[in-house]
Amino acid sequence: MASPMVQDFNTPVLRNVDLGRGNWLLEFEAPGVADAMRPAQFFMIGVPGSDVLLRRPFSVCGLPGTFEDGRGGAVQVLYRVYGRGTRLLASLGTGAALHVLGPLGQGFVAPESPDAKIVFVAGGIGSAPFPAFLAELAREGRRATMIYGARSAGELPLLDWFRARCDDVQVTTDDGSLGAKGLVTGPLDAMLGGPDRERLHLYACGPSPMLKAVARKALDAGVVCDLALEAPMACGFGVCLGCVVPTHASPDGPVTYERVCVEGPVMRAERMAW
Ligand SMILES: Cc1cc2nc3c(=O)[nH]c(=O)nc-3n(C[C@H](O)[C@H](O)[C@H](O)COP(=O)(O)OP(=O)(O)OC[C@H]3O[C@@H](n4cnc5c(N)ncnc54)[C@H](O)[C@@H]3O)c2cc1C
Ligand code: FES
Repeated sequence: MASPMVQDFNTPVLRNVDLGRGNWLLEFEAPGVADAMRPAQFFMIGVPGSDVLLRRPFSVCGLPGTFEDGRGGAVQVLYRVYGRGTRLLASLGTGAALHVLGPLGQGFVAPESPDAKIVFVAGGIGSAPFPAFLAELAREGRRATMIYGARSAGELPLLDWFRARCDDVQVTTDDGSLGAKGLVTGPLDAMLGGPDRERLHLYACGPSPMLKAVARKALDAGVVCDLALEAPMACGFGVCLGCVVPTHASPDGPVTYERVCVEGPVMRAERMAW
């Protein structure tokens, strides 16, 4: 589906749901954008008239049809409160105005091979782009498995939602409060050493140290891995160069820099020159 033109629009909050432990689900209408946006593309979101001047980047979490109770034409964003911008978002009620730019960047693309075994690797709030992707895959009759890790049990938003829809969700927590104690790389190692290795296609989103570890393991195992990267962003549309990451066309090729907001946020693991 062709990506729609980037739009800069004001839209009211339809719902801003407190999911607990600092995680929120924000719903708003994105007319002309929602129907053609790709999972893992993102919005820059701000609040008109507030003293938080720069808009903040957020992946689209839900597109029309992703969540059963979502309003037609609406999209959802799953966010975690970190600082001023996300605290401000969490204070907004229904009807409050949002200033939104999107859709931005490159999204996830499903594997061409119908035999591919699709695995999501998510770290905490890095699960945000996966509901829309899972719903899209389901419409094509495809399924996914998930490895979902966080520091502790409270930092796994939408876990029950994923459990109800994925073939399998393997949970890890650093403190052992839920699932296996340890990092997502534990179950990943088992998968990469298992009988399905040749068919695996990994999609990973989470903190940079996690993405680097997942990318390294995927490359060592010769498994395709798409990363949804995070980077500090001031503009979101390619101008400020605040979001560049080192990349290369081949492992021995020269290092160049690409913008996470335009060439990313989804990039193949082998492209990264970390
Ligand atoms: C393409 C893209 C997509 C994103 N999608 C999502 C999403 O779907 N949901 C979501 O919750 N976040 C997402 N983020 C991260 C989100 O943009 C930041 O969490 C947000 O900008 C923080 O703004 P703030 O004003 O609340 O915090 P700031 O005031 O900017 O930062 C406050 C403190 O928190 C730290 N901090 C900020 N962000 C993070 C972070 N992500 N992880 C750890 N520490 C952090 C800062 O270093 C600082 O110390 C995405 C980022 C990118 C680049
Ligand atoms: S955020 Fe400005 S160039 Fe990427």
